[in-house]
Amino acid sequence: MFQQIFNWRTAISVIAIGIVSSTIFYSIYVSNKIAKEERARVTAFGEALKIKSGSNDPHVLAFTNQIALENDDIPIIETNEKNIPTGVFINLDTVLIQSDASYLQKMVQKFSSLHDPVQVEIVSHPLTVNKYFYGESKLQNEVRFYPIIQLIIVAFFIFITFFALRSNYRSLQNQVWAGMAKETAHQLGTPVTSLEGWIEILSQNDDNEKIVEELKKDVNRLRLVSDRFGKIGSSPKLEIKNLIPQISAVVDYMKRRAPEKIQFTCEWFGENKINANISATLFDWVIENLLKNSLDAIEAKGNITLAMQKTTHSIFIDVTDTGKGIERYQFDKVFKPGFTTKKRGWGLGLSLSRRIIEQSHNGKIFIKHSELGKGTTFRIVLKNENN
Ligand SMILES: Nc1ncnc2c1ncn2[C@@H]1O[C@H](COP(=O)(O)OP(=O)(O)OP(=O)(O)O)[C@@H](O)[C@H]1O
Ligand SMILES: [Mg+2]
Repeated sequence: MFQQIFNWRTAISVIAIGIVSSTIFYSIYVSNKIAKEERARVTAFGEALKIKSGSNDPHVLAFTNQIALENDDIPIIETNEKNIPTGVFINLDTVLIQSDASYLQKMVQKFSSLHDPVQVEIVSHPLTVNKYFYGESKLQNEVRFYPIIQLIIVAFFIFITFFALRSNYRSLQNQVWAGMAKETAHQLGTPVTSLEGWIEILSQNDDNEKIVEELKKDVNRLRLVSDRFGKIGSSPKLEIKNLIPQISAVVDYMKRRAPEKIQFTCEWFGENKINANISATLFDWVIENLLKNSLDAIEAKGNITLAMQKTTHSIFIDVTDTGKGIERYQFDKVFKPGFTTKKRGWGLGLSLSRRIIEQSHNGKIFIKHSELGKGTTFRIVLKNENN
């Protein structure tokens, strides 16, 4: 079970999550480092201003000016203790400052939400400080947003690649399906035609009446199989059919071949006509597949119920059995070609049914409910266009 859940998709997802989280963690780490360095630069800026204001020495002035000017990208605003701008600032839009009197105050607000201001003591008795509110440098902004942009681009590419591969795989799969089906129909067609000829000859002798009767049934079945394969290999023509007699006929056919201990029930909820656009040959095949699976799922005794009801927009067909049930994690898997738990199964019944319902009838088929040891309900949903 572990292996079934832990498939290659899970592995790729785990690796992807690993890459994404390590990228995010690394960028947070770098960003924190930059933040520390920038705070040190803001502190140096504040200290330089303090030294500058208390000295007339040209060397000191040149040195402090250099420190102040070195910072050419972190926006800084100096305020007094009460957060009122003193008029000293760097790396801010001077045009905006001149046109909007409250701009500096607004920026102080904004910066205070980003970082605590750096405080520089000007006088110790009584304690007076200058505060330096600062924003984010371009580098810090890039470090913060670049990985996100990068991840979005990577995700976009993965998405496109995945869809391209998937549709490529699907169209390949479709070609194989259609090709195999058409070839099978073709190969079956020739011997069936010849068998029909032989039946004609046999039927000329009255002694053969019983044999001819049985042979006809088998040949008709073979014709039906050939017809099914022919139709699934091309796009079938849909016709309006009353589903009640249509499904009843399939149920009768299966009933005759089922062990007696299995009870079949049909429930139409008082309706006697539920019309739908279907390809009868293919639709019968789906019902047959579901009923066969239900029969296989019931060990000795049990019930199979076919219930159909319509609403304004949809027709619901539920096939319920009291068989062994399906585990939740396999609800989608059972529809994959080749998935089987049976010794003599091909694992094709449900994938074929899904293909017929979804691609030829524009409907849906899924497991509505299942419980281990209690039973399963498969549901088909078709559009209600003719009632
Ligand atoms: N009604 C059901 N109850 C329990 N298990 C089911 C039921 N229907 C399908 N399954 C499970 O889904 C699997 C796939 O079903 P599917 O009809 O596609 O293939 P299969 O019946 O195994 O073989 P095939 O139909 O090709 O002969 C089955 O092997 C079975 O394990
Ligand atoms: Mg099956």
